[in-house]
Amino acid sequence: MKQIVDSVMDWVEVRMPVAKLYDEHMANYYAPKNFNFWYYFGSLALFVLVNQLVTGIWLTMYYTPSGEEAFNSIEYIMRDVEYGWLLRYMHSTGATAFFIVIYLHMFRGMMYGSYKSPRELVWLFGMGIYGVLMGEAFFGYLLPWGQMSYWGAQVILSLVGAVPIVGDDISLWVRGDYVISGVTLNRFFALHVVALPIVLLGLIVMHLFALHEVGSSNPDGVEIKEKKDSEGIPLDGIPFHPYYTVKDIVGVVVFLVVFCAVIFFFPEGGGLILEGPNFEPSSPLKTPEHIAPVWYFTPYYSVLRAVPNKLGGVIAMGGAIAFLFVLPWLDRSPVKSIRYKGWMSKVALASFVVSFFVLGYLGTQPTSELKLLVAQVFTAIYFLFFILMPFYTTMETTKPVPERVTE
Ligand code: HEM
Repeated sequence: MKQIVDSVMDWVEVRMPVAKLYDEHMANYYAPKNFNFWYYFGSLALFVLVNQLVTGIWLTMYYTPSGEEAFNSIEYIMRDVEYGWLLRYMHSTGATAFFIVIYLHMFRGMMYGSYKSPRELVWLFGMGIYGVLMGEAFFGYLLPWGQMSYWGAQVILSLVGAVPIVGDDISLWVRGDYVISGVTLNRFFALHVVALPIVLLGLIVMHLFALHEVGSSNPDGVEIKEKKDSEGIPLDGIPFHPYYTVKDIVGVVVFLVVFCAVIFFFPEGGGLILEGPNFEPSSPLKTPEHIAPVWYFTPYYSVLRAVPNKLGGVIAMGGAIAFLFVLPWLDRSPVKSIRYKGWMSKVALASFVVSFFVLGYLGTQPTSELKLLVAQVFTAIYFLFFILMPFYTTMETTKPVPERVTE
């Protein structure tokens, strides 16, 4: 039997080098030996992605993408389809989990300077993924065709209308109708289940190819490829498989415990995962009292509302995301990791995180004069983190980076 399997594998290997690929990217891919807690989130993102794809495909089997049927088909999934409630909660909780994991993954990159040379492309592909993920979440949110789906999309699409001259035409083109209607729902469905997942998968492949070309960074920011033994193996590296595959499985198990607890006991997440008004069918005649996007968009929503002028708000919101793209070129520090940066970088990163949380919270709340003022202050802090970065990263004194990894 073994002989037959071996000869089939040899036959395939000559035509398509699967084993070589496995060797290059797993068994003989050397990763730094000092990965810590923060390095769980890349593999977890892959895990959540698979969850979204599988549950999404099953939901599509029962969901009807039409203005008349969409809301009812979700109720049908929740009440009549066997384990339909589980499929839906796995998908809706999965969306929130995806953003938690991605935000922690991005924060790791910012903390350890993973975006710096030679990993700028890894970061850029990552930012592309983040952009597509936001689109994916936005289009998916219209599909239950509840009140928040409808009015949330109404608010966001009306922003497109703020663009001078062509804005109204573009929003008409995106909606496919003069108001948000079944036509809009159909195109959002096509984008959510086909177009964006394909782009997302393509970008993830590029992200990992770019990463494996240069190799992973680590909490010390030491390039392990610079110190190799006589056989060309990095002295501070260990094979990805089995060491990190096993470590990543531990991460997946812990993640699953939390994920299942939320799905079974707290599926609406107090309105953070599924918003209350979305359990009412959409009605163009009844505007909800308070329209707020899901939590992962609220920091940007706060930035939008902090600027009194609509076009200005849209530009600020776009700018808040665009600055993240150019991070590799704003950070001029001679060292990568926050461990060896000076106090200014540490204060700046902490202020950025605080501003992201405060803006995120404010975005879930109805505005008042005081809240608007607070949002404006924290929007300024958010932007100053990026604008001042070229200055504080060159002015501060850094600590010497060790020759080899420290743990
Ligand atoms: C579906 C989304 C994503 C998946 C599946 C994914 C997957 C991964 C994996 C498996 C790794 C290697 C393991 C690790 O370092 O944790 C990695 C590394 C990395 N990712 Fe992502 N990623 C995603 C999104 C992003 C985003 C949105 C960004 C940032 C904008 C990003 C930036 C990075 C960087 C800079 C590294 C290299 C880290 C280092 O070497 O220190 N990724 N990613």
